[in-house]
Amino acid sequence: MQSISNYQEKISSHFALLALNKEPKNLYEPIQYILSLGGKRLRPVLTLMAAEIFDADYTKALSAATAVEVFHNFSLIHDDIMDDAPLRRGNETVHEKWDINTGILSGDAMLILAYQFFEDYEPKIFQELAKLFSKTALEVCEGQQYDVDFETRVDVTIPEYLKMIEFKTAVLVGAAMKMGAIVAETSEENKNLIYDFGLNLGIAFQLQDDYLDAFGNPETFGKQVGGDIIENKKTYLYLKAIEFAQPEEKEQLLHLFSIQPNDNTDKINSVKNIFNQTGASEATQKAIQDFTFSAFETLEKMNISSDKKMILKAFGEKLMNRNV
Ligand code: IPE
Ligand code: IPE
Ligand code: MG
Ligand code: MG
Ligand code: MG
Repeated sequence: MQSISNYQEKISSHFALLALNKEPKNLYEPIQYILSLGGKRLRPVLTLMAAEIFDADYTKALSAATAVEVFHNFSLIHDDIMDDAPLRRGNETVHEKWDINTGILSGDAMLILAYQFFEDYEPKIFQELAKLFSKTALEVCEGQQYDVDFETRVDVTIPEYLKMIEFKTAVLVGAAMKMGAIVAETSEENKNLIYDFGLNLGIAFQLQDDYLDAFGNPETFGKQVGGDIIENKKTYLYLKAIEFAQPEEKEQLLHLFSIQPNDNTDKINSVKNIFNQTGASEATQKAIQDFTFSAFETLEKMNISSDKKMILKAFGEKLMNRNV
């Protein structure tokens, strides 16, 4: 096993193989741009780690890891269009820097590029990876559609929300890890357990993403703070606030989530106050912990050394305490 920063470097250098410096510029430059902005590279690191957990050399998993990260970056370009987001990783989003059509097509090309990376594997592994990837990518689309549908619904439930984030975010984290396990040719049981570990970690990760969207530090967060509030996203924070609120607070929150003011400063501040006063912020922190601990329980069922369990646990704890 290697350090996280080592894995991140290996992934970045593998990106060079994409050879994206070509024509037409308006197709490839946005791809180079979004990939050059980096990000945490969480998913490909997990792919490489999973491969080594199951005793394969990480180099064998590099193409799968790259596929996952290119797909993730594609989904971010389209997500930023759908969420009308101005900022990504501290920089202008692709559709702001270029335009919406450019974001759509460059995103589409990235989805194809991601698939191409699986061609580096022999037929048996290729088939298993491609099958998992197709299933996962379709689920991400389903999750994204629910996310948008929920913006205009007032009766979203917590189980519906949890299903939505499982699909839009957690399945890719699970799949990233399972791909490492597939490449390592480990047992079906191990493949499924590592998927479940990633899935629970992914749910905790999206809950934290929602929390940071409201309460992150604008100086370091890299995205527009309050973006979910502006877009009336039915996050865990919002749903818990509705559940815990006194009748008056509830009415105020419902009203705030029905308006679209030109200046959102007051809306964001009022909503954040309600999130804090109702105990929704605390409940969200607790849920992040609960899903992280569920992931750790899955880990206990796995037939790997305790050293390796410690490494995965440390990674989960690090994610839970992140502020970006
Ligand atoms: C952002 O993912 C989208 C979500 C699923 C929450 P990350 O927080 O992993 O974004 P980067 O890649 O590090 O920028
Ligand atoms: C994004 O969820 C999930 C996908 C990109 C599939 P968000 O919309 O919360 O992600 P951010 O906050 O823009 O990164
Ligand atoms: Mg978004
Ligand atoms: Mg979104
Ligand atoms: Mg978000």
